[in-house]
Amino acid sequence: MTDTATSTTSASPRTGRVGVGLIGAGVISDQYLGNLTTFPDLEVLFVADLDLERAAAQAEKWGVPASGTVDELLARDDVEIVVNLTIPAAHVEVALAAVAAGKHVWGEKPYALDRESGSRLAEAARAAGVRVAVAPDTILGSGIQTGLRAVRRGDIGTPLTGLALFQVPGPESWHPSPEFLFAHGAGPMFDVGPYYLTTLVQVFGPVAKVTATSSKARETRVIGSGPKAGTEFPVEVPTHVSALLQFESGASAQAVFSFDSKLARAGFVEIAGTEGTAVFPDPNMFDGDTVLHTGGEETTVVPASGTTSTRGTGVAELAQAIREGRRERVPGELAFHVLDVMVSLAESAERDESVRVESSLEPTDELPEDWDPTVATLT
Ligand SMILES: NC(=O)c1ccc[n+]([C@@H]2O[C@H](COP(=O)([O-])OP(=O)(O)OC[C@H]3O[C@@H](n4cnc5c(N)ncnc54)[C@H](O)[C@@H]3O)[C@@H](O)[C@H]2O)c1
Repeated sequence: MTDTATSTTSASPRTGRVGVGLIGAGVISDQYLGNLTTFPDLEVLFVADLDLERAAAQAEKWGVPASGTVDELLARDDVEIVVNLTIPAAHVEVALAAVAAGKHVWGEKPYALDRESGSRLAEAARAAGVRVAVAPDTILGSGIQTGLRAVRRGDIGTPLTGLALFQVPGPESWHPSPEFLFAHGAGPMFDVGPYYLTTLVQVFGPVAKVTATSSKARETRVIGSGPKAGTEFPVEVPTHVSALLQFESGASAQAVFSFDSKLARAGFVEIAGTEGTAVFPDPNMFDGDTVLHTGGEETTVVPASGTTSTRGTGVAELAQAIREGRRERVPGELAFHVLDVMVSLAESAERDESVRVESSLEPTDELPEDWDPTVATLT
């Protein structure tokens, strides 16, 4: 398969602030709207959802001037970037509609549920001359940026191997509508894997080959919070994945993604190099120091440095990249490659064999240390 997910870098003819419309007014929309409405380079103009009352409530809560249907949002000329916060099964359909309306897209992860629909979206974006950039933008946070800077300036010598661990009891205890997190396109690997895998790809470059095993602890789970608490629902996907990754560079990494452990242990990525090991902070968060181990008991803390803004930071960076006609730092091809890696891991576990990953990409540059999405750059 070729890398069909390269985003365009053509400059938009428009200038000034970038108009944003948000689709999907669910749980994560609060964090997005809380940030997007404070970024001066963006103007949040519209909130849409299948549930019109939910869209209206979120618009009112965050001072967004209008709300309504997806079609109403897409008909607006002043919306240049559509922020797609729908459930994973709707990501491609909603993004394709936005692309067809000539909009750039920032989407939540994953890019798609399968390579075919992901490729279709990337092709549509390329043909329309718009960009589809997809989370996680946690890699722009001070935590992962600081770790990346340390590794790239040689603090641990040549990076050789990686270790990533995410094991928890499962999100059905706290998410009021957790069914989608256990449906096709989710599970611990598709839901949380993008944070860890994107970080590993930023360090080691593209993945060439994967091997995995997977399992499912229970056929059903019970919702633990909200109006549906006590409701039983089916588990459609593996809830534990053990993964081995071989990178094009020859480096390797191992990772565990699990909703099946009563012992919650998660939130780090270790990179072992020829001269030391770097422990990155939680790749699902935007901050945290990096710790360097260079032998014996000695450790060096590299304090997190960079923007402290959270989800939505990637939308501000995308808006600036569009105006400046340069590649964004969380590009679609990165999320597409990570999707390809996750699909390959699922195939490896199903077929009991290693799987080659065909897509590839160049990791993106670090942000300038003083970059700040709360500072206006577009006038
Ligand atoms: N909840 C979190 O902590 C979290 C964190 C990071 C990323 N995410 C990602 O954000 C996305 C949304 O997650 P969530 O927890 O907010 O989900 P949610 O179920 O709370 O909200 C999704 C919203 O999208 C709407 N929707 C679904 N299909 C639609 C369509 N075709 N058109 C318009 N609206 C549609 C739903 O009505 C709902 O209001 C997912 O991709 C998830 O992986 C969630």
